[in-house]
Amino acid sequence: MAAVPPPHSLRDLAACRGLWFGACVAPTPLAAEPDYAALLRRECNVLTPENDMKWGPIHPAPDRYDFSRADAIVRFAEADGIAVHGHTLVWHNQNPAWLPTAADSRDAAQRILRDHIAAVAGRYARTVAAWDVVNEAVADDGTLRRTLWLERLGPDYLAFAFRAAAEAAPQARLLYNDFGAEVINAKSDAIHRLLSDLLGAGAPLHGVGFQCHLSGTGPDLERFARNLERFASLGLDLYVTELDVRLPLPTTPESLERQASIYRGLLETCLQQPTFRGLQTWGITDRHSWIPGRFPGTGAALPFDEQCRAKPAYHALRTILAEA
Ligand code: XIL
Repeated sequence: MAAVPPPHSLRDLAACRGLWFGACVAPTPLAAEPDYAALLRRECNVLTPENDMKWGPIHPAPDRYDFSRADAIVRFAEADGIAVHGHTLVWHNQNPAWLPTAADSRDAAQRILRDHIAAVAGRYARTVAAWDVVNEAVADDGTLRRTLWLERLGPDYLAFAFRAAAEAAPQARLLYNDFGAEVINAKSDAIHRLLSDLLGAGAPLHGVGFQCHLSGTGPDLERFARNLERFASLGLDLYVTELDVRLPLPTTPESLERQASIYRGLLETCLQQPTFRGLQTWGITDRHSWIPGRFPGTGAALPFDEQCRAKPAYHALRTILAEA
């Protein structure tokens, strides 16, 4: 495995193209592990807090916010001219236990959602450049996911959230983010309709994030390209927000090469789209990745190994970004 440091980091190469390259970040290792912090600084011009802007961590009690960990990430980024991508203002997971009881009526749910977005997006109005306003609102069969927000507020909750985010953070790019919608399928059809309707209703929606938690041989690139195309034709900016490519463990030289070719194909396909704005991986080193916990028996999903050494996937990204 080739050692870094490379002559040009992904950060530099992405910046030359006016793009973001980045990763999600966790504050504990950021403070404790200098090699991890240095790697993020060297390779990323954008960072997303992995968990620390989600409702549970940031809003632990009805009248109490805990911004400490999110603030630490924002300070780290700001100190080095790195942009911050906020994640996320409306989701069905990682919500605090108090939420369903407190949001026990339409009025209460609306007030709580508005206040939360005003507090969180408002606090970072100057520092968070893009927000995943709504995360994963669509189920695999294309229906709206049955979440607390849908139950209490009906389908209008999405437009409501985007408007509240625009009010709180008028400079931020506002995104809809989801998984399993990379290629044309029932889910991406439904998301396309949903976003088209939101835009038609005048909601302040600027972009769409494709999470890209990938496995196997990765998405069919032709179907991925056609899908990107149709979202771009709505006038939306395109982002890859949470890329990882999990491998069966232990890895082999062949599986690492296969992984690199998935990374390469994905980025190449994105670069063909004029409104593609950036790509983020869900972590930067295999030392800190949600994959082994979430998908037992798999891992090694990121561009750097556990020792922060560049893997073939990293070199693939770099080669593609360096091409004219
Ligand atoms: C994951 C985090 O990586 C984990 O640390 C946490 O335990 C669960 O959430 N889609 C998303 C992310 O939008 O917020 C998820 O992050 C991964 C799937």
